[in-house]
Amino acid sequence: MSTASHQSDSHYIHGTSPEEQARLSLLNDLLNKACLKEMQLEKEQRILDIGSGLGQFTRLMAKTNSQRPFVLGIERDPQQLRQAIDFAHASNEQELVVFRQGDATQLPLQNEEWDSFDLVHARFVLEHVREPSQVVQQMAAACKPGGRLVLADDDHDIFRLYPECPGFNELWQAYIRSYDRLGNDPYVGRRLVQLLHESGMHKIRNTFIFFGDCAGNATFEAFADNIIGVVYGAKSVIIEHQLLSASFFDQGIAAMHQWKKRKDAALWYAMHWAEAYKPIK
Ligand SMILES: C[S@@+](CC[C@H](N)C(=O)[O-])C[C@H]1O[C@@H](n2cnc3c(N)ncnc32)[C@H](O)[C@@H]1O
Repeated sequence: MSTASHQSDSHYIHGTSPEEQARLSLLNDLLNKACLKEMQLEKEQRILDIGSGLGQFTRLMAKTNSQRPFVLGIERDPQQLRQAIDFAHASNEQELVVFRQGDATQLPLQNEEWDSFDLVHARFVLEHVREPSQVVQQMAAACKPGGRLVLADDDHDIFRLYPECPGFNELWQAYIRSYDRLGNDPYVGRRLVQLLHESGMHKIRNTFIFFGDCAGNATFEAFADNIIGVVYGAKSVIIEHQLLSASFFDQGIAAMHQWKKRKDAALWYAMHWAEAYKPIK
């Protein structure tokens, strides 16, 4: 069973259980191609990935550039970090990325590393921190003048299942509320442009990356399982904060497992994505 992590120094709701690691890997498989296409990496020499998780996307960014850039992944959780290093070794790609433990709100960079990165990226991280603006300011400080910041994150209001799945709306609302019980913003996606603007970046561009699917496609069940997985991972926070009863929660999850077998089921979901450049003084 996936359990949410809620010790005092951590606000990462999904935790690091094996089931959660599997979900995060699945999510990477489903999403990475679209993210990479939007990002259009070219000749970046130095890339910084904040909250690099299991490191799959970090390694992918390193691989797309034939000039083999220096890529640094910063991750707070030691288990995620260990797993990212193991995955890199298992793929014989340990040379591609340097992983370093540290907090996004206080980046563990050497003096000469500030103002030095061509690209600073964070995906699905701002929704897990209490001070997203502090993280974006740190990212901007790490970026070199003329370099680029890319932010990709959730806005949990942008989500629809159709036909409706009994009990799931209540489950989803409880999941959203579990974010603010931990002091995090479940709607941070809509703030990405504002956060870039406030950190002094310019030439801002925003878009959505579609993260939905429908019955009949080979990937549909995996998309549905990802949604079930994220909600299930927050069960302990939802129950502890009395956002829903345990029986109602379990009924909602069971209904979702039935729903995903419908031949007319559609899941509409979109990730918020924005990029901007650091002005050259
Ligand atoms: C949903 S995962 C996303 C991982 C990766 N960016 C991806 O898209 O696959 C969020 C990651 O951010 C990490 N994280 C959360 N808060 C952090 C912080 N304050 N500093 C650094 N990492 C953090 C978590 O431990 C987790 O590995």
